[in-house]
Amino acid sequence: MRGVEITGKRLGLREVAPDDVDALHAVYGDPAATEHLPFEPRTHEEVAEIVAEALRTAETEPRRLYVLAATEVDTGEVIGVARISIEIDHPHSAEIGLGLRPDHWGRGMGTDLVRLMLHLGFTSLGLHRLWGARSPANTAAQLAMLVAGMVEEGRIRHHVRARGAWRDSIVHSALEDEWEGHRSLG
Ligand SMILES: CC(C)(COP(=O)(O)OP(=O)(O)OC[C@H]1O[C@@H](n2cnc3c(N)ncnc32)[C@H](O)[C@@H]1OP(=O)(O)O)[C@@H](O)C(=O)NCCC(=O)NCCS
Repeated sequence: MRGVEITGKRLGLREVAPDDVDALHAVYGDPAATEHLPFEPRTHEEVAEIVAEALRTAETEPRRLYVLAATEVDTGEVIGVARISIEIDHPHSAEIGLGLRPDHWGRGMGTDLVRLMLHLGFTSLGLHRLWGARSPANTAAQLAMLVAGMVEEGRIRHHVRARGAWRDSIVHSALEDEWEGHRSLG
């Protein structure tokens, strides 16, 4: 699918654009926003490369990667990023990743963002399974995914190498047939 765009009550998702580098850097470059992610805060140049790569892969067929800007409906401002990565060997299944600028945390926007991603994945992209892996210490991500209807599936031991140590991940997932009862645009 090209030209992804979906709007909820407070948040929208659209394809990332070259002008979004600063806004994405406010997430990927922020020490608090990356605390539970398996990488150090990104530099502006690294985020520019992420955006360039997202634009390149958006043109591939079949498309496997969606890097989307999360926008505030009232202002149009980009306040976060959402990533949907379809598995090459299991194209009914995709991993999600998300982040919001810290000054927007704690108002239910993260939960709304997960809901929007599930809606997009199941309705527009025709996926059957969406899953996300979080750090065991990432309570905000845990609650956002649980409240949006993603069940906790289990622990992948030593899944990632982060800051010089092995780290487990807790996997959450939603299945299309289960999600029907939760469907919401956020
Ligand atoms: C994960 C993230 C998107 C959540 O965004 P958010 O807008 O703060 O989430 P919400 O406001 O929807 O909060 C979800 C739940 O977590 C709770 N919560 C939020 N921050 C919390 C914290 N630091 N500690 C404990 N609970 C927290 C909220 O109270 C809410 O629970 P409720 O629905 O029972 O009230 C945001 O924290 C973020 O961008 N983090 C950095 C990137 C990241 O970790 N991404 C996830 C990778 S798996």
